[in-house]
Amino acid sequence: TPVKIAVAMGDGIGPEIMKATLKVLTAAGANIEPEFIELGEKVYLSGNTSGISEHAWNAINSNKIIFKAPITTPQGKGYKSLNVTLRKSLGLFANVRPVNALHPYVPTNFPNMDVVIIRENEEDLYAGIEHRQTQDVYQCLKLITRPGCERIVRYAFEYAKVYGRKKVTCMVKDNIMKITDGLFHKVFDEIALEYPEIKSKTQIIDIGSARLAAKPENYDVIVTANLYGDIISDIAAEIGGSVGMCGSANIGKNVAMFEAIHGSAPDISGQGIANPSGLMNAAVAMLAHIGQPEIADKVKNAWLVTLEQGYHTADIYKEGVSLKKTNTQEFAEKVIENLGKN
Ligand code: NAI
Ligand code: MG
Repeated sequence: TPVKIAVAMGDGIGPEIMKATLKVLTAAGANIEPEFIELGEKVYLSGNTSGISEHAWNAINSNKIIFKAPITTPQGKGYKSLNVTLRKSLGLFANVRPVNALHPYVPTNFPNMDVVIIRENEEDLYAGIEHRQTQDVYQCLKLITRPGCERIVRYAFEYAKVYGRKKVTCMVKDNIMKITDGLFHKVFDEIALEYPEIKSKTQIIDIGSARLAAKPENYDVIVTANLYGDIISDIAAEIGGSVGMCGSANIGKNVAMFEAIHGSAPDISGQGIANPSGLMNAAVAMLAHIGQPEIADKVKNAWLVTLEQGYHTADIYKEGVSLKKTNTQEFAEKVIENLGKN
């Protein structure tokens, strides 16, 4: 029987890249049954400040797997980020974001880059403790807990172990935030002792992200707090080729959510030119997660072959390297043609 998943088409480029990705999944024979849910802009503008309809909650709670295109959070007061709401209320504590260069097929200055960023996904400045203190003073509080640190650090080391990775780097700013980031660092050191076969190292986030941008090949798995992870994963994706290339898995105890790392890209939406690769990679991670690794490999290989052939969307297109600039749907068609190749 097909695995039921809650599917959100998203806003901006969301529906364009989701349509393309679902087409590929169907052609690949993924044994899934999408249940479409309403999330995002329309729900917000209907007066629901959480951005999530009641039907969506029911579908999420019964299906436990969410496949989500990026959504737009409307500007203005009172709208809560639904990404934060979903991650927090579903306990999606780990945000796993792999970035690897596809040299020489996709232009990048860093041919040997192969990094996985594991971002704590519920705490830190995203815990939602933000308020106006007095007329002119506004506060956002950083929340770091020992169980939260233990969960994410252990997840990072287990991930490294399972995927045969050699090194985990912790990035925090404990020279300044001695108590909160200090706890993250301390827990990292404690748990690292349980994994003597995996190298461990801590770097202050500012120099760490600078070095990542200069020599990404020196990094393997990175574990970090929520805000830092948000920032360095966009940097990593962009220097790896494009922010449009990377997918993510948001992992919790009972529920998992798969999405691209980027947003709804209003600047290019409606043109049909967005790169669907990030969402396709998220789909690959989802298929592996729900026990369909053969289909996951089939999609991943066809995607790689398509990039190797030089069919590139505008964000990664480069004269002399690419064969043809494709739009979103053409790219998906090529991936479908390549199913079964590797
Ligand atoms: P963004 O990631 O949407 O776009 C940043 C830049 O990257 C833009 O120039 C865009 O054209 C480009 N880009 C992004 N994805 C691309 C793709 N697949 N192919 C080609 N180019 C791509 O970030 P921005 O502009 O800061 O945010 C736009 C909206 O998205 C906001 O409302 C924000 O709240 C929302 N957002 C939603 C997320 C989610 O649903 N998970 C995550 C991040 C932002
Ligand atoms: Mg982000």
